[in-house]
Formats: sequence, C-alpha cells, structure tokens
Amino acid sequence: MKQKLTKSKKVFICSECGTTYPSWTGKCVSCGQWNTIVEELVSKKSNLAKGSTVSQKPKPITKSKEEKHYTRLSTLIPSLDEALGGGIVTGQVILLSGEPGIGKSTLLLQVASNIAKKRKVLYVTGEESTHQVFIRGERIGALEDNLLILSQTNLEEILQVIEEENPEFLIIDSVQTMYSSHLESAAGSVSQVREVSAKITELAKTKNIPVILIGQVTKEGSIAGPKVLEHIVDAVIHFEGERGHSYRVLKVIKNRFGSSGEIAVFSMKDTGLQEVKDPSSFFISEKPQGKAGSIIFPFTEGSKPVLVEVQALVSKTVYAVPQRKTQGIDINRLSIILAILEKEGNIFLKDRDVFINVVGGMFIKEPAVDLAVALAVISSFYDIPIDRDMIGFGEIGLAGEVRSVHYTEQRIKEARKFGFKKIVIPYNSKLEEPDIIPIRYIREVIQLLRS
Ligand SMILES: Nc1ncnc2c1ncn2[C@@H]1O[C@H](COP(=O)(O)OP(=O)(O)O)[C@@H](O)[C@H]1O
Ligand SMILES: [Mg+2]
Repeated sequence: MKQKLTKSKKVFICSECGTTYPSWTGKCVSCGQWNTIVEELVSKKSNLAKGSTVSQKPKPITKSKEEKHYTRLSTLIPSLDEALGGGIVTGQVILLSGEPGIGKSTLLLQVASNIAKKRKVLYVTGEESTHQVFIRGERIGALEDNLLILSQTNLEEILQVIEEENPEFLIIDSVQTMYSSHLESAAGSVSQVREVSAKITELAKTKNIPVILIGQVTKEGSIAGPKVLEHIVDAVIHFEGERGHSYRVLKVIKNRFGSSGEIAVFSMKDTGLQEVKDPSSFFISEKPQGKAGSIIFPFTEGSKPVLVEVQALVSKTVYAVPQRKTQGIDINRLSIILAILEKEGNIFLKDRDVFINVVGGMFIKEPAVDLAVALAVISSFYDIPIDRDMIGFGEIGLAGEVRSVHYTEQRIKEARKFGFKKIVIPYNSKLEEPDIIPIRYIREVIQLLRS
C-alpha cells in the first residue's frame, strides 16, 4: 500500500532509530536513548509524480571523470592554507570547532580581513555586538572596508542579507546562536543547529560562496549539536590548546577537498594569532635535560609530523587508590599500557601514582604514542633519563608486542632533521637504516633503558 505523508507539518524524530512522535519527549521509548528526539519539518511529498523523469541517471564509474579544477581562496596564512589542502575551495563549508576562549573568533576575523583585501566578506556574529568585533579588529589590525559585520541571530534575516549583499566569503559565529523562526525549539538545540547549518550549506552551494561556521564545543569535547553537523559540512577543523598557554593547534579532522590529519600551529598574541612556522622546534625547545620521564614523540595524523614531548611522572602514592591522570592522551589507553607493563615487564605500579602530560596542549589520539608513553613511564619508574637523542613510536598490543604504525618514514625524517639519532620503532617496520632500534616486545624496551 502506498504511504501518504500526513498533513501535519512538524514531526519529532529520534535521530538514533528514526521513530516518530507527535510531540517532543526527552527519551525515545523505542531505542531507550535520551535527548535524541529532534524536530523535523515535513512539507514535501517524498515520491516523484507519476510519469516525471529523474534529473540524473546513474553512469558507469569509468565515465565519471570530471575535469573540474577547484578555485581556492588564500587565507594569506600559509600554514592554514596548507592544512586545508591549498586554501579554501569556493562553495566549501568548513566547520571550525573549539572551546570557548580558544581563539576561534580571533582567527576567523584575521582570515576575514585577509580575504577582504580583495573580496567582499560578510562576518555574521550572534555572540557579540558589531562594536565588540570592531574593538577586536582594531586590536589585531583587521579593519577593512570590504569586511561587513552583521550582528544577527535570525536565520531568515541572515539569508536575506546574503541575497542582497552577495558576499564572496561568509563567516557564521557561531552556528549554535542562530535560529530559524520556522522551528519552535531554542537556538542551539539539535534541530536548530541542523536546520541552520543545512540552510546555510544549501545557499553556499547554490551561490558558490565559501563558508566557515563556528561550532561551540561542549564540556565533554564534542561539537554541540548533532553529529549530523559534521556530516553536512565539507571540512571539520578543530582548534585546541592549553588554557594559560599561548600555543594553539589547529587540526583538520575531515576534508573533502584535501587530506585530513593536517595541522597548523599558532601562538596567541595580543595582536592576534601568529603562525608558528617550525612547530617541532617550538614544542621540544623546553625539554628538560638529564631528567627521567621525558621523551620526544613524532606525532602525525597527516603528511606533516611534529615533534612533541611526552612526559611521565611515576611517584609513590599517598592515597589508598593510586592516581592515574593524563593530559593529552586518553586515560583508558594509559591504563592498558600500565597493565601491559605490569604483566610483561614486571613493573609494579600498585603503590604508584602515574601522571602523563603531552607538552603543548595537543591531544594525541593515534596509537603510535603508546611506545613513547611506555618509554616515559619506564624511565620515570627506574629514574633513568632517556638519551637526549632518542625518540620512540609504535602501538603496543595487549600481549606486549610492539606493532607498526603508518607514516614511519616521515616521522623518522622529521626526527633526523632535529638531530635525533636513536630511533626506537616497531620491529615490523623493516627499516634498514643506521641508528634504528627495532623492538618486538615491550620487555626489550625495559632492557634497552636499563642497559
Ligand atoms: N586584549 C587582549 N590581549 C591579548 N589577548 C587577548 C585579548 N583579548 C582576548 N585575548 C585572547 O583571545 C582569546 C579569546 O579569543 P576569541 O577569539 O574570542 O575566542 P573564541 O571565539 O574561541 O571564544 C582569549 O582567551 C585571550 O587569549
Ligand atoms: Mg568567539
């Protein structure tokens, strides 16, 4: 039987399982998830009318090549352009996420004023008044006649302004403050975030305007609003750093027009964000000499490795339950590494607190950091400093085996550039180079440090 859509214009749908409800509820009774019900506007019929033709027919993959060259806009910030794969593609929608106060508005005001040197730029702010943006612009030297500021939160009004002004570059600061009057829910709710980003993306694509949306990040570190936001946009970049420190790391998490995993490093000055041209030397510059518990790790999720310092402190506990604290790596990963060290290396940590810190405020998710963390822990446990020209990377398996990771050559190249000679890597990497120390099992690392 053919299903017809009902006349009612609004339904509430669980974004997890798709169950529909006539009104909003906090919990989906069908799948049991909390806070997944979103408001949905239903206005179109789902099927094409009988007899009408489709606008696009499928074609063989072999005939699907398109000779299309993307036009890219330069942000005039070389490392940002490079991280994005050569600049911002016209019609591309980028989501910039980051914690409050990290510098998102500052960075984008700089980008906006750079682009406004040649093109008309519209910066829509829902968080500040135009005067506040002016004050920031004055402080960081971002005053340009072609840079238009609009303090507005109503989506329909914003879309109207875009139609009238025809900007060539658009910034929305932030997507959580904007609302569509077609939806009843408050700004920042899942349905509003979805509606606002979908409408703006649609406009960006039809008018070929590149857009950067700012997305606030919740305390748990995820982008506020639905995961769907990340799917809608072409690129997701995340801005992170340590409070109280000036460095900021921009990571490309997703990019339809370039590779992901690329990073750019900035330093927050009163005149705005300044590029750090050589992040490796910046991050390793304060490494303590002759002290146990510190090692350099070549971090990379993209083409460009960066050397960072991983520190461990293993100390006698005064608590009934020993402390495990991490900054810059996942705490569960640390627990696993410590369990492996106990089982495979007889390193007993029941009465020790273990603290890990990745210097520079970067959060490292890649498993290659395992070996560096293990080396730092072993070094601190035995109070034996690691040779100053040693680095290490590799994933550690549950049986204590050291597993190969990707970008081995690039990491080693970066390390050699900075004079690191002893390079501890997984045995399976099969590199026949001088100074390489291949490791098969974690207990060999312990022997290596203690010998
Ligand atoms: N007058 C100032 N001098 C130097 N740095 C400032 C000044 N005002 C703000 N900042 C820096 O800018 C940061 C806020 O940047 P902002 O771009 O507003 O962040 P976000 O948009 O991510 O919330 C502050 O945390 C501070 O580091
Ligand atoms: Mg801001």
